[in-house]
Amino acid sequence: MDTKLILPSRISSLSKLDRFLKQPRFASSRFFLFVDENTYSHCLPLLISKVAALESAEFFEVPVGEEAKSIEVAAQLWGALLESGADCNSVIVNLGGGCVSDLGGFVASAFKRGVPVVNVPTTLVGMVDAAIGGKTAVNLDHVKNAVGYFHPAAAVCVEPAFLDSLPDEELVAGFFEMVKTVLLSDAASFEALAEAVGQEGRVSLDLIKRHLNDCVAFKQAVVKTDPYEHSVRRMLNLGHTFGHGIESYLLECGTPVSHGVAVGIGMACALYLSVKKVGLDASLLERYVAMLRKMVDVPPFSLRDTEGILHYMRQDKKNRDGLILCVLIQELGLPVIDVSVDENEVRDALLSLHKL
Ligand code: GLY
Repeated sequence: MDTKLILPSRISSLSKLDRFLKQPRFASSRFFLFVDENTYSHCLPLLISKVAALESAEFFEVPVGEEAKSIEVAAQLWGALLESGADCNSVIVNLGGGCVSDLGGFVASAFKRGVPVVNVPTTLVGMVDAAIGGKTAVNLDHVKNAVGYFHPAAAVCVEPAFLDSLPDEELVAGFFEMVKTVLLSDAASFEALAEAVGQEGRVSLDLIKRHLNDCVAFKQAVVKTDPYEHSVRRMLNLGHTFGHGIESYLLECGTPVSHGVAVGIGMACALYLSVKKVGLDASLLERYVAMLRKMVDVPPFSLRDTEGILHYMRQDKKNRDGLILCVLIQELGLPVIDVSVDENEVRDALLSLHKL
């Protein structure tokens, strides 16, 4: 199924969503809204005031964050849907960040063998990444995204007004996903984003909003070309192999960083290896690291830390045949996927970070 991407223009995205949901194909549909505590307070009032089609929707509140992504929560939601008389014409509308859309998409993918889902992302990471591309998942035994399906949304509605109530930390997380996108796609936008980070490490919301549509459209184009991640979609993992290792290890150490910050540091490692292995111009690495340092305290990793991070990187589900595979970039807009990286190269990248 093709996903309808609803982007802001002179007409607001929420008005366009209202029109989308009033199409004859949804005439006999009931809508079920999934929210968490934050989006219930900060986003639901705006959604309901602008999308008349959802005025009589039933809503279910799910736990905030990764807590939501469990089989138990999914089972409760399936039970609640059954009790409310939901049928195969029902539509699930996810109002939230990546955790809500991962869970809600998963619930929708299996309920009555699959009902349509509409994503209304309320975080920047949700808008530029998680809500687009049909990946759904819950966690199992502390393994992130261990169980899930590809279940593309009928529509994704990107409404920038939701960013106005977002905490700084969430903006930083999403900003690194945007930087990832422009490293993969567009030299001019990389320079614009990198230069726009002020000395105090903040980025303006205006700038983010200006680049939002391009980043969303790029992700949509990539997943349309390779919906099941057999080839080019893997480029979207730039910085994530290192990032997941760093995130899991720092969590284990009791000094957690957000996923976005871990990916930001992970991208520095990937760019370092890009210079060494595929001839990336070192000045790009320097510009990236200068920007990263303004936003994030990059920890000086010790040899012991590198072993801990490697432990998690070896478990990355993108690896094959025991090799650690990374996305590197040859130049801005020219990624190389599935580059095999040996453990000493990983150690070198992590240990060199604080010297860059
Ligand atoms: N988050 C990467 C992807 O959707 O493929």
